Amino acid sequence: MAADLSTTFTGVRFQNPFLLSSAPPTESESNIMRAFEAGWGGVVTKTIGLHPVVNVLGPKTKFIRADADSPRLSMKKRPGAALHSSWNWELISDKTLDWWVPRLGRIKKAFPDHVVVASIMAGSGNDTELRHWQELATACEQQGCDALELNLSCPHMDRPDMGSNVGKDKELVSIVTKVVKEVAKIPVWAKLTPSTTDIVVEARGAFLGGADAIASSNTFTSLPLIDSETLEFEVQVDGFVSTGGLGGPAILPLSLAKMSQLTQAFADKSFSGIGGISTFDHALNYFLLGCGTVQICTAAMLDHAIGPNVIRDLTEGLTRILETHADKGWTGVRDFVGLRRDRVVLQSKIRRADEKDYRGGYDREGYAEPTPA
Ligand SMILES: Cc1cc2nc3c(=O)[nH]c(=O)nc-3n(C[C@H](O)[C@H](O)[C@H](O)COP(=O)(O)O)c2cc1C
Repeated sequence: MAADLSTTFTGVRFQNPFLLSSAPPTESESNIMRAFEAGWGGVVTKTIGLHPVVNVLGPKTKFIRADADSPRLSMKKRPGAALHSSWNWELISDKTLDWWVPRLGRIKKAFPDHVVVASIMAGSGNDTELRHWQELATACEQQGCDALELNLSCPHMDRPDMGSNVGKDKELVSIVTKVVKEVAKIPVWAKLTPSTTDIVVEARGAFLGGADAIASSNTFTSLPLIDSETLEFEVQVDGFVSTGGLGGPAILPLSLAKMSQLTQAFADKSFSGIGGISTFDHALNYFLLGCGTVQICTAAMLDHAIGPNVIRDLTEGLTRILETHADKGWTGVRDFVGLRRDRVVLQSKIRRADEKDYRGGYDREGYAEPTPA
């Protein structure tokens, strides 16, 4: 019997727990339709807002690559280099809500059994802005979207009441979530920024506002590197750059640490894991820490724009692990979600080296080779 990859997350049924995250892979109707045909269980749309959006001149996303035989890191394309990360300063969708509305309806009509989560974003500085959240939520829900994801985490916003600036303020997180929950009948996920000291604080704000799940991570605040020959940033316009967001392999361990904090603090809540996933083995980390679904961006961008090979690896990996552990009674992802959540403990709880073998660092100078007697 074929393994059953389906799952239910925040009350929504998924054919599999793998989603394309809100980003270029989900910026158009044709991309989303192709993604569903390729096998993705769900998509989170590119973030939809009500304010006019004009992106920077030139490339909005570049990829940092690492050499195998030297410490060099660079965005320059060269043979034999491996992907280190994506760096982007792309804003939310530059298409209007009116552009999105009929498309969302058509996508849901064509793929009623696939999950469409609408990512939305507005300001939070006054009542008009808060009503914008409600307007966006209602419009997307009326088109049949299955859930909403609140973008409280875009790292490129200068406005203090938008994007990750909201995500850094537990009160604003709570207020925005509550305002959307007042009108939404579908589940509301809050996508938080990893660029805070203690993400548990903002997550508590989201749950107090009524969030049905937390999604994390958005990209990490970062700068592109400076080219040592030209002395210019590898991404710049007229010599200038602003901070942007780092995604891809480099953020996998960073994002896992954030997720571990969240799933330990709120063991009974729902989480969607994002950050650095290219394969099922990567995704497995998020499931074992307590996530019910996972989302992917960078790896899909680099695989025919919507990740047909990535989703194949993810579904094959999930099938394989369910078959391997069938003797334990595993029938779905729910059987291993959170299985390693409690293995992350305080450093002081980790067993110490045996005293007799331990050199304590006092009879040697740090990590240096011992001086010959
Ligand atoms: C070019 C680009 C655009 C993105 N746009 C959005 C966006 O509009 N809304 C959002 O919530 N996240 C956005 N993200 C963040 C991704 O959804 C995701 O959280 C992040 O890239 C980490 O996942 P990854 O390591 O798989 O790339 C964007 C990321 C990239 C690279």
